[in-house]
Amino acid sequence: MSFDTLAPHYHWMEWLFAGNKLQRCRTAFLDRIRAPKNTLIFGEGNGRFFVEFCHQFPYSKITLVDISEGMLNQARHRLKRAGLDEQNITFIQADALEWVPPTQAFDLVVTCFFLDCFQKSELELLIPKISQAATPKAEWLGADYCIAESGFSRFRSKLIVSFLYVVFGQATHIKARSIVNPAPLLQKEGFKRHQREEIDFGMLYSEWWGREPAALHSPS
Ligand SMILES: C[S@@+](CC[C@H](N)C(=O)[O-])C[C@H]1O[C@@H](n2cnc3c(N)ncnc32)[C@H](O)[C@@H]1O
Repeated sequence: MSFDTLAPHYHWMEWLFAGNKLQRCRTAFLDRIRAPKNTLIFGEGNGRFFVEFCHQFPYSKITLVDISEGMLNQARHRLKRAGLDEQNITFIQADALEWVPPTQAFDLVVTCFFLDCFQKSELELLIPKISQAATPKAEWLGADYCIAESGFSRFRSKLIVSFLYVVFGQATHIKARSIVNPAPLLQKEGFKRHQREEIDFGMLYSEWWGREPAALHSPS
């Protein structure tokens, strides 16, 4: 099994497991970022973020990197169904760990439920590589699972996240078996967190990072 096998089932599985919560996280800060000219999206999966993004920023060029052909096809179909065209979009089927991005080319990076696919040692290579592909003024939108701070929420999130790693670990090629907080690695690359939102008892989060202060029109 791989993400290719999961691709046709990903949407209904997500809906059954989490309803609209993951989509809320993916799109939480879309109305606050600066309009990007060049966007790099990693591990987009079946295209739910991507279609929303294209509606909001029809003039952004997009490079979409995903290891799974099945997921890329799902994203393409979703785009077509939404009546959008592929003119501004480059689809790249590649392993993010091996793909060599252009330098300082992207003013927005997006990683939704993607960085949790990697072990710490992999993120230590991947995040600097992605960062060098980002411009000095770039922003970064990320969403993921996390372990809640304390009490029952912590116990609950540990249980659910461990379960997800068992299921996804067996179903795909990923080596990660626990969540790694990417924040220190992003900070090291000059990104500062503008905002963070948590939902589902602190198990899901969305973050908006930037290398420059947030634009004035954005709520603080
Ligand atoms: C958990 S899914 C998340 C999909 C989507 N971003 C979302 O918000 O639901 C992880 C995605 O990352 C892709 N992926 C996993 N490992 C990858 C890698 N090494 N390189 C590129 N894409 C990868 C998978 O194919 C899949 O589309």
